[in-house]
Amino acid sequence: MDDVRICRAERDDLPELLALLAAVDLPPEGVEEYLDGFMVAWDAEGRLVGAVGLERHGSVGLLRSAAVSPGAQGSGLGLRLTSELLAAARADGVEEVVLLTTTAQDFFGRKFGFEVSGRDAYEGALACSPEWNLPRCSSAVLMRLRLTAG
Ligand SMILES: CC(C)(COP(=O)(O)OP(=O)(O)OC[C@H]1O[C@@H](n2cnc3c(N)ncnc32)[C@H](O)[C@@H]1OP(=O)(O)O)[C@@H](O)C(=O)NCCC(=O)NCCS
Repeated sequence: MDDVRICRAERDDLPELLALLAAVDLPPEGVEEYLDGFMVAWDAEGRLVGAVGLERHGSVGLLRSAAVSPGAQGSGLGLRLTSELLAAARADGVEEVVLLTTTAQDFFGRKFGFEVSGRDAYEGALACSPEWNLPRCSSAVLMRLRLTAG
Protein backbone atom coordinates (compact mmCIF):
# COMPACT_ATOMS: atom_id res chain seq x y z
CA MET A 1 0.00 0.00 0.00
CA ASP A 2 3.06 2.29 0.01
CA ASP A 3 2.36 3.16 -3.63
CA VAL A 4 -1.15 4.36 -2.80
CA ARG A 5 -1.60 8.12 -2.73
CA ILE A 6 -4.22 9.75 -0.49
CA CYS A 7 -5.62 13.20 -1.26
CA ARG A 8 -8.71 15.35 -0.96
CA ALA A 9 -11.52 14.37 -3.31
CA GLU A 10 -12.22 16.55 -6.33
CA ARG A 11 -15.39 16.92 -8.34
CA ASP A 12 -14.09 14.75 -11.19
CA ASP A 13 -13.60 11.87 -8.73
CA LEU A 14 -17.31 11.56 -8.02
CA PRO A 15 -18.23 8.79 -10.52
CA GLU A 16 -15.40 6.51 -9.36
CA LEU A 17 -16.12 7.30 -5.73
CA LEU A 18 -19.79 6.37 -6.11
CA ALA A 19 -18.80 3.18 -7.94
CA LEU A 20 -16.53 2.20 -5.04
CA LEU A 21 -19.29 2.81 -2.50
CA ALA A 22 -21.68 0.69 -4.57
CA ALA A 23 -19.08 -2.10 -4.69
CA VAL A 24 -18.95 -2.27 -0.89
CA ASP A 25 -22.68 -1.63 -0.41
CA LEU A 26 -22.46 1.80 1.21
CA PRO A 27 -25.03 4.53 0.48
CA PRO A 28 -24.46 7.30 -2.09
CA GLU A 29 -26.84 9.82 -0.52
CA GLY A 30 -25.15 13.09 0.41
CA VAL A 31 -21.74 12.20 -1.05
CA GLU A 32 -21.85 14.88 -3.73
CA GLU A 33 -23.11 17.47 -1.24
CA TYR A 34 -20.29 16.75 1.21
CA LEU A 35 -17.59 15.93 -1.33
CA ASP A 36 -15.29 18.63 0.11
CA GLY A 37 -15.00 16.50 3.26
CA PHE A 38 -13.87 13.35 1.44
CA MET A 39 -10.44 11.84 1.02
CA VAL A 40 -9.70 9.36 -1.72
CA ALA A 41 -6.89 6.87 -2.32
CA TRP A 42 -5.37 6.17 -5.74
CA ASP A 43 -3.24 3.18 -6.60
CA ALA A 44 -0.22 3.24 -8.91
CA GLU A 45 -2.43 2.38 -11.90
CA GLY A 46 -4.68 5.39 -11.26
CA ARG A 47 -7.60 3.46 -9.80
CA LEU A 48 -9.61 4.88 -6.93
CA VAL A 49 -9.19 2.14 -4.30
CA GLY A 50 -10.32 3.82 -1.10
CA ALA A 51 -12.32 6.65 0.38
CA VAL A 52 -13.63 8.11 3.60
CA GLY A 53 -15.69 11.22 4.23
CA LEU A 54 -16.63 13.67 6.95
CA GLU A 55 -19.93 15.53 6.98
CA ARG A 56 -19.33 18.64 9.08
CA HIS A 57 -22.27 19.70 11.23
CA GLY A 58 -21.04 22.52 13.44
CA SER A 59 -18.57 21.17 15.98
CA VAL A 60 -19.59 17.57 15.20
CA GLY A 61 -18.32 15.59 12.23
CA LEU A 62 -20.08 12.53 10.89
CA LEU A 63 -17.49 10.08 9.58
CA ARG A 64 -19.00 8.09 6.74
CA SER A 65 -18.28 6.09 3.59
CA ALA A 66 -15.16 4.37 4.89
CA ALA A 67 -14.47 2.12 1.93
CA VAL A 68 -11.59 0.14 0.48
CA SER A 69 -12.07 -1.75 -2.76
CA PRO A 70 -12.45 -5.50 -2.14
CA GLY A 71 -9.13 -6.33 -3.80
CA ALA A 72 -7.22 -3.86 -1.64
CA GLN A 73 -8.78 -4.63 1.74
CA GLY A 74 -6.66 -5.92 4.60
CA SER A 75 -3.47 -4.04 3.70
CA GLY A 76 -3.76 -1.12 6.08
CA LEU A 77 -5.39 1.33 3.70
CA GLY A 78 -8.54 1.73 5.80
CA LEU A 79 -6.35 2.61 8.76
CA ARG A 80 -4.37 5.17 6.75
CA LEU A 81 -7.48 6.83 5.34
CA THR A 82 -9.21 7.04 8.72
CA SER A 83 -6.07 8.37 10.45
CA GLU A 84 -5.66 11.09 7.83
CA LEU A 85 -9.33 12.06 8.02
CA LEU A 86 -9.25 12.33 11.81
CA ALA A 87 -6.04 14.39 11.71
CA ALA A 88 -7.63 16.77 9.19
CA ALA A 89 -10.80 17.02 11.27
CA ARG A 90 -8.78 17.87 14.37
CA ALA A 91 -6.82 20.51 12.45
CA ASP A 92 -10.11 21.97 11.18
CA GLY A 93 -11.45 22.39 14.72
CA VAL A 94 -13.94 19.51 14.76
CA GLU A 95 -14.51 18.68 18.43
CA GLU A 96 -16.23 15.32 18.15
CA VAL A 97 -16.57 12.68 15.46
CA VAL A 98 -19.45 10.23 15.33
CA LEU A 99 -20.24 7.43 12.92
CA LEU A 100 -22.92 4.87 12.19
CA THR A 101 -21.88 1.32 11.44
CA THR A 102 -23.31 -2.14 11.03
CA THR A 103 -20.08 -3.74 9.80
CA ALA A 104 -17.01 -2.17 11.34
CA GLN A 105 -17.59 -1.55 15.04
CA ASP A 106 -14.36 -3.33 16.02
CA PHE A 107 -12.33 -1.51 13.39
CA PHE A 108 -13.23 1.91 14.77
CA GLY A 109 -13.28 0.82 18.40
CA ARG A 110 -10.05 -1.14 18.63
CA LYS A 111 -7.98 0.93 16.24
CA PHE A 112 -9.18 4.47 16.99
CA GLY A 113 -10.89 4.41 20.37
CA PHE A 114 -14.44 5.13 19.19
CA GLU A 115 -17.01 4.22 21.86
CA VAL A 116 -20.57 3.04 21.41
CA SER A 117 -23.11 5.66 22.42
CA GLY A 118 -26.80 6.52 21.97
CA ARG A 119 -28.24 8.37 19.00
CA ASP A 120 -30.50 10.70 20.97
CA ALA A 121 -27.82 13.21 21.93
CA TYR A 122 -27.05 13.84 18.25
CA GLU A 123 -30.55 14.08 16.79
CA GLY A 124 -30.35 17.88 16.77
CA ALA A 125 -26.81 18.30 15.44
CA LEU A 126 -27.22 15.71 12.69
CA ALA A 127 -30.84 16.35 11.70
CA CYS A 128 -29.71 17.68 8.30
CA SER A 129 -27.34 14.84 7.52
CA PRO A 130 -28.35 12.77 4.49
CA GLU A 131 -26.76 9.63 5.91
CA TRP A 132 -28.21 10.08 9.40
CA ASN A 133 -31.73 10.09 7.98
CA LEU A 134 -31.46 6.98 5.82
CA PRO A 135 -33.85 4.21 6.90
CA ARG A 136 -31.04 1.65 6.48
CA CYS A 137 -28.94 3.55 9.04
CA SER A 138 -31.66 3.77 11.69
CA SER A 139 -30.60 0.51 13.34
CA ALA A 140 -26.85 1.06 12.95
CA VAL A 141 -24.60 1.37 16.00
CA LEU A 142 -23.52 4.92 16.81
CA MET A 143 -19.90 5.39 17.87
CA ARG A 144 -18.26 8.59 19.07
CA LEU A 145 -14.76 9.93 19.54
CA ARG A 146 -13.89 13.24 21.19
CA LEU A 147 -11.04 15.03 19.45
CA THR A 148 -10.70 17.70 22.12
CA ALA A 149 -10.44 17.40 25.88
CA GLY A 150 -13.52 18.09 27.95
C1 LIG B 1 -13.82 -1.33 6.88
C2 LIG B 1 -12.75 -1.09 5.81
C3 LIG B 1 -12.82 0.37 5.36
C4 LIG B 1 -11.37 -1.35 6.45
O1 LIG B 1 -10.38 -1.10 5.48
P1 LIG B 1 -9.18 -2.13 5.24
O2 LIG B 1 -8.18 -1.49 4.39
O3 LIG B 1 -9.76 -3.43 4.80
O4 LIG B 1 -8.65 -2.31 6.72
P2 LIG B 1 -7.13 -2.33 7.21
O5 LIG B 1 -6.33 -3.26 6.39
O6 LIG B 1 -6.64 -0.93 7.35
O7 LIG B 1 -7.43 -2.98 8.64
C5 LIG B 1 -6.59 -2.88 9.67
C6 LIG B 1 -7.14 -3.64 10.84
O8 LIG B 1 -8.56 -3.50 11.01
C7 LIG B 1 -9.20 -4.78 10.97
N1 LIG B 1 -10.47 -4.64 10.24
C8 LIG B 1 -10.62 -4.34 8.95
N2 LIG B 1 -11.94 -4.29 8.63
C9 LIG B 1 -12.60 -4.58 9.77
C10 LIG B 1 -13.98 -4.69 10.10
N3 LIG B 1 -14.97 -4.49 9.18
N4 LIG B 1 -14.31 -4.99 11.38
C11 LIG B 1 -13.36 -5.17 12.32
N5 LIG B 1 -12.03 -5.10 12.06
C12 LIG B 1 -11.65 -4.80 10.80
C13 LIG B 1 -8.22 -5.68 10.26
O9 LIG B 1 -8.44 -7.02 10.62
C14 LIG B 1 -6.90 -5.15 10.75
O10 LIG B 1 -6.69 -5.58 12.08
P3 LIG B 1 -5.22 -6.04 12.58
O11 LIG B 1 -4.31 -4.86 12.34
O12 LIG B 1 -5.44 -6.31 14.03
O13 LIG B 1 -4.87 -7.21 11.75
C15 LIG B 1 -12.90 -2.04 4.59
O14 LIG B 1 -12.79 -3.38 5.02
C16 LIG B 1 -14.21 -1.88 3.83
O15 LIG B 1 -14.28 -1.09 2.88
N6 LIG B 1 -15.25 -2.64 4.19
C17 LIG B 1 -16.55 -2.58 3.48
C18 LIG B 1 -17.28 -1.28 3.71
C19 LIG B 1 -17.57 -1.05 5.18
O16 LIG B 1 -18.13 -1.89 5.85
N7 LIG B 1 -17.16 0.16 5.66
C20 LIG B 1 -17.41 0.58 7.02
C21 LIG B 1 -18.59 1.49 7.02
S1 LIG B 1 -18.91 2.12 8.65
